[in-house]
Amino acid sequence: MSRTFSIIKPDATRRNLTGAINAVIEAAGLRIVAQRRIKLTQAQAETFYGVHSERSFFGELVAQMTSEPVVVQVLEADNAVPKYREVMGATNPENAAEGTIRKLFALNVGENSVHGSDSDENAALEIAQFFAEEEIVG
Ligand code: GTP
Ligand code: MG
Repeated sequence: MSRTFSIIKPDATRRNLTGAINAVIEAAGLRIVAQRRIKLTQAQAETFYGVHSERSFFGELVAQMTSEPVVVQVLEADNAVPKYREVMGATNPENAAEGTIRKLFALNVGENSVHGSDSDENAALEIAQFFAEEEIVG
């Protein structure tokens, strides 16, 4: 059993899609073992997406991620990281496979409804940024 970190992004919370996205997550066999709705601060968003700080879209990304509340989550499954990335679909919803969260709900590459960790190492770092171990109940 392993964990990944998920964010239901502002474009989705704004459209009241938290429950619909959680239904897709659970139907795929991922278990939501921690969850909290928060408004990201500028500093939290800049830290979280620090790897993209040199990219042209960084300012837009941080502005979007702080625009409305998000739902931060820890998901558990066998091979949770690759499993959730498959459930999310491609970053750009135009390229996302049928039935994926981004195909179903995303508006465009910037407003793509969810984040999921890209490695076990990053999952552990991202989870630790938002959750204490005792808040994660498997
Ligand atoms: P995350 O799970 O959010 O990390 O998405 P990802 O791993 O599929 O994509 P990546 O880490 O490469 O990019 C992080 C986020 O930056 C994406 O989810 C997008 O929201 C945003 N992003 C990536 N490319 C672009 C772009 O060309 N324009 C804009 N506006 N946003 C982008
Ligand atoms: Mg990424």
